[in-house]
Amino acid sequence: MCDHVKKHVALLLFFLSNCIFSDINFAAMIDFRSDTVTSPTKEMLQAMMQAKTGDDVFGEDPTVNALEQKAATLFGMEAALFCPSGTMTNQIAIKVHTQPGDEVICDRLSHIYQYEGGGIAFNAGCSVRLIEGNRGRITADQVLRSINPDDIHKPPSTLVSLENTANRGGGSCYDFKELRSIKTACKENNLHFHLDGARLFNALIAKNETPKQYGEAFDSISVCLSKSLGAPVGSLLIGTTTFIKKARRIRKIFGGGMRQAGILAAAGIYALDNNVQRLAEDHYHAQIIAEALSNKEFTGEIMPVETNIIIFEVNGKYTASQLSAKLKENGILAIAISPSQIRIVTHLNITALMTEQTVDIINKL
Ligand SMILES: Cc1ncc(COP(=O)(O)O)c(C=O)c1O
Repeated sequence: MCDHVKKHVALLLFFLSNCIFSDINFAAMIDFRSDTVTSPTKEMLQAMMQAKTGDDVFGEDPTVNALEQKAATLFGMEAALFCPSGTMTNQIAIKVHTQPGDEVICDRLSHIYQYEGGGIAFNAGCSVRLIEGNRGRITADQVLRSINPDDIHKPPSTLVSLENTANRGGGSCYDFKELRSIKTACKENNLHFHLDGARLFNALIAKNETPKQYGEAFDSISVCLSKSLGAPVGSLLIGTTTFIKKARRIRKIFGGGMRQAGILAAAGIYALDNNVQRLAEDHYHAQIIAEALSNKEFTGEIMPVETNIIIFEVNGKYTASQLSAKLKENGILAIAISPSQIRIVTHLNITALMTEQTVDIINKL
């Protein structure tokens, strides 16, 4: 069968499957809602089945220990801690770096502020100084202007937290020079410096940077294994031995001490070994889809696509939720993240064929 015919047969099968499972059969849809929707591959499951386990609360799970060691070495930092989620790694970091009554400086779109349930106040008792950044990224100058003076009326500024890539910035990446300047600003003003690197590996691939550069720049880094890297569960918090010792205590208090977690850690090790370089493919797919969207009348401004996230304004004949519903009728899932914006996220389970099918569907809308 020639490629052209194959493509149309695949499209037909795809539409038929969507008719048969008409309400929502997520498995039959092309799911761009998030890079968290991936299922572990057969190879990853095999690695999980073969994992040696022990009780990690006693520090005795060899696979968790191996994953933590691997992450620390990768980033050139002293230690790491395996946690159930990126929210937990961020919240632990904030708690360890601050005292109740302190102030945390971050971009106004930050996940730690927008989507962690008010955890900065709930868990750490801190207030937040929000900065109006550029697509989720802030500058050293903005940080310097946001640091409170040593004045009894003011909460002490003790932590700067950045996000790279910035989710609500459309997967935007920091310029490393700016990160260095922010690090200097933090150092000169005795502020701790944390990175929410839920999708840091996307930034590393897009900008051709190394984990060690980031290990040198930050006091603590959170990376997610269950987003672009395709593991079913888990995030890593990385930092100094002293920091991670305190973090381990807070993880226990938060109820995040897991027992035979080696089964999950094995997926993390597999993800780090196999799923980092391929992120370039996700970025390429995002470019192709953004290009198709850019030709449509209903598309307003598209944020520059730097990694695997496309955020675009919807105008003209649809609202964002109407367009999202229209896409769903055609077998595509994408979230309306505001009344006028849709987010599309490419990932491990989006193939080249699915990308082509998506372009065909967009062209027909
Ligand atoms: C930038 C960012 N940080 C942190 C998180 C939290 O990760 P989790 O869902 O594992 O708690 C997310 C989740 O989407 C995220 O996008």
